[in-house]
Amino acid sequence: MGYRVAVVGATGNVGREMLNILAEREFPIDEIAVLASRRSLGTEVSFGDKTLKTQDLDTFDFTGWDMALFAVGSGPTKEYAPKAAAAGCVVIDNSSLYRYDPDVPLIVPECNAEAIHGYTKKNIIANPNCSTAQMVVALKPLHERAKIKRVVVSTYQSVSGAGKEGMDELWDQTKAIYNPTSDVETKKFTKQIAFNVIPHIDVFMEDGSTKEEWKMVAETKKILDSKIKVTATCVRVPVFVGHSEAVNVEFEDFLDEDEARDILREAPGCMVIDKREDGGYVTPIECVGDFATFISRIRQDSTIENGLNMWVVSDNLRKGAALNAVQIAEVLGRECLKKG
Ligand SMILES: NC(=O)c1ccc[n+]([C@@H]2O[C@H](COP(=O)([O-])OP(=O)(O)OC[C@H]3O[C@@H](n4cnc5c(N)ncnc54)[C@H](OP(=O)(O)O)[C@@H]3O)[C@@H](O)[C@H]2O)c1
Repeated sequence: MGYRVAVVGATGNVGREMLNILAEREFPIDEIAVLASRRSLGTEVSFGDKTLKTQDLDTFDFTGWDMALFAVGSGPTKEYAPKAAAAGCVVIDNSSLYRYDPDVPLIVPECNAEAIHGYTKKNIIANPNCSTAQMVVALKPLHERAKIKRVVVSTYQSVSGAGKEGMDELWDQTKAIYNPTSDVETKKFTKQIAFNVIPHIDVFMEDGSTKEEWKMVAETKKILDSKIKVTATCVRVPVFVGHSEAVNVEFEDFLDEDEARDILREAPGCMVIDKREDGGYVTPIECVGDFATFISRIRQDSTIENGLNMWVVSDNLRKGAALNAVQIAEVLGRECLKKG
C-alpha cells in the first residue's frame, strides 16, 4: 500500500525535481496529484514514464490525501498550507514561511530526523533554505566529533535558487550580450547576473546582512545546535544549477584534516572528492542531478587553534529542496504514517 501524495508547485523548478525524485526513489505512491496556479491548468508534467495534467491549487480538496509537498512561494503557502493541514494532509513545505516557527520541525534527515515527530502540532514540516541544507549535511558529522564553535561561510549560489525566472534571466542576458541589437534587461536580479556576481540575495535586514544570510544562521542553529555561531555572506553567481560554499569551521577540540576527511567519507549524504591536484575537487556542474553533498579542499586553518576549511557543493534543486523534501516524506512514512 502506498500514499496519496500531492505535489504543489509542480510546474516550477523544485516541483518538477520533486516528481523526478519521487519516481527515481520509487516512493510508494497510490495516487499523485500535481498542482499549480490556475495559469497552468492542464499543463503537462512528467512523472517517471507518465505524463500528468496540472490541477488548480485553488480548487483542490486535500481531504483524504496523506502528504502534500509544497514548492510555491511564501504567499501561496500562507494561503493554502493551513487548508491542506486542516484537511488532515501533512504539509512538507519548501518556502521559508514556517521554518522558524517553534511548532514546526525544520528537518534535514541526515541531521535531525528524530525531530519529525513534532509535526503533529500543526501538521506541517519545514524544509530548510538550499544553502543551509547542504552545509549542515557536511557540518553534522564534524560537530559530533569535535563540537563546532563558529562557522564563517561564503556562498556561490546558482540562479535556479531564484526559481525558473532566475534561470530565464541568466539565459536571456547571456544571449543579449552577444547580440548587439538587444538590451540586457534586469528583472529578477538587482544587477546584471550574466558574467557578473551579486553579493545580495533576498531583502536587507537592519544590521546590514541579507535575509538569505540570516536564514543560514537561524536554520543552522535550529537544525544542529543553538550554540553554534554562524556568519554568512551569500552571493549569486552566473551558474544555472548547483550551489557552492567556502566554509571555515572553528571547533572546540582539535580535528585533524585527515580525520575530518575520513569522517566525511563515512557520513550519510556526503561524498568526498579531495585530491590535491589539478581538477581534484568538485564544481557545481558535476553535481547537477546528483543526490550527494560533495566536499573538497578539506584543509587545516592554521590561523586559529582548531580550524578547518572546506568547499561544499550540491545540486540546490535536489539536496537544497526537492530531495530533502522527499527524504522527509520517506521518514514521515516510515516513522509516522505507516501503511500496509
Ligand atoms: N530553487 C531552490 O533552490 C529552492 C531551494 C529551497 C527552497 N525553495 C523554495 O521552493 C519554492 C519554489 O521555488 P521554485 O524555485 O520551484 O520556484 P519557481 O520555479 O518559480 O516555481 C514556482 C511554482 O509555484 C507555483 N505558484 C506560484 N504562485 C502560485 C499560486 N498563487 N498558486 C499556485 N501555485 C503557484 C508556480 O505555478 P505556475 O507555473 O502556475 O505559476 C510554480 O509551479 C519557493 O518557496 C522557494 O523559496 C527553492
